[in-house]
Amino acid sequence: MPCVVVVGGFFGDEGKGKIIAYLARQYNPMIAARGGVGPNAGHTFVLNGKTYKVRMLPSAALNDSTRLMLGPGVLINPQILLDEIRNFEAQDRVFVDSTCGIINNDHIEKDNAEYPKTRLGTTGTGTGPANSDRALRTLRIAKEVPELFEYIEDVSNAINYSLDKKERVIIEGTQGTFLSLYHGEYPFVTSKDVTSSAVCSDVGVGPKRIDEVLLVFKSYVTRVGQGPLKNEIDNDEARKRGWTEYGSVTGRRRRAAPFDMDLARRSIRLNSATQLALTKLDVAFPSCKGIREYSKLSPESRNFIEEIEQETGLMVTLIGTGAELNDIVDRSTSLNMNII
Ligand code: IMP
Ligand code: MG
Repeated sequence: MPCVVVVGGFFGDEGKGKIIAYLARQYNPMIAARGGVGPNAGHTFVLNGKTYKVRMLPSAALNDSTRLMLGPGVLINPQILLDEIRNFEAQDRVFVDSTCGIINNDHIEKDNAEYPKTRLGTTGTGTGPANSDRALRTLRIAKEVPELFEYIEDVSNAINYSLDKKERVIIEGTQGTFLSLYHGEYPFVTSKDVTSSAVCSDVGVGPKRIDEVLLVFKSYVTRVGQGPLKNEIDNDEARKRGWTEYGSVTGRRRRAAPFDMDLARRSIRLNSATQLALTKLDVAFPSCKGIREYSKLSPESRNFIEEIEQETGLMVTLIGTGAELNDIVDRSTSLNMNII
């Protein structure tokens, strides 16, 4: 019960940030630990009309009593991290593993050099070149950066100790399953694996300690950058359906396609998902906007959810119906399922 890992089911931008911020406020975990690649991911959440974005901190950043941790697998851009710590007034609750890799300007310049940019459409945030230096064992790590000194912690030790005491822990993935270096369509992928196993490894937690794997799907599929996208619709059609979105890190328009059941099933296998969250139901079914009770959702939207449940064999425990954190249908109690 106390440990959940939350990962994206498609190509990133499924709305993990909102789901995690909601869970964090609902369940007040002792620790929220971020895995994933680094500042190439942006998580967004809205509370009381105010929009928050995080590229380095876990999406539980608004929780005063949750310790926010970055695991050793995460690449850090110190400037972005220090800005976020200041903006969220999180000086006393942020912890960085001593071996997190450090992105420098050379990595960013290399990432923005023409060749990889046009071919892969990377975010240009330096993560690929930094992970490449990490593999060569030439990358600087967090303990070598004086500005990070006060935040250094043994993250794996801290999380495992909390779990020994049966305290609640959320492990947050970034990107999405099909951006995985191993399981996505190479070379149109990010610079490491991003499935649930990898995210657990990023923060130093072994597979037997995970109680739930919550896989987040959006009600339609989007992708930024290059690479295949089955049943992609054109810009006009996306605008008509209200599916036009822009990347939170790069501002690029996201390509769009309808929900893909085959991809969803493959994602569930790759992540050993135990339950699902479905976001932006109100974008696919506008009459669902702001609804917080399952019985009040439109019959067609419930058919869509039930089809997903039948086709995948998993329950959809959380359903996003708007941008606000509390615009959510939380079925965990009625379905008698623990999330965390
Ligand atoms: P990189 O991770 O910057 O090297 O980019 C590799 C591919 O992953 C590009 O197609 C990016 O658009 C995509 N990508 C990386 N991070 C994210 C994310 O957080 N959301 C969506 N796409 C991402
Ligand atoms: Mg994003």
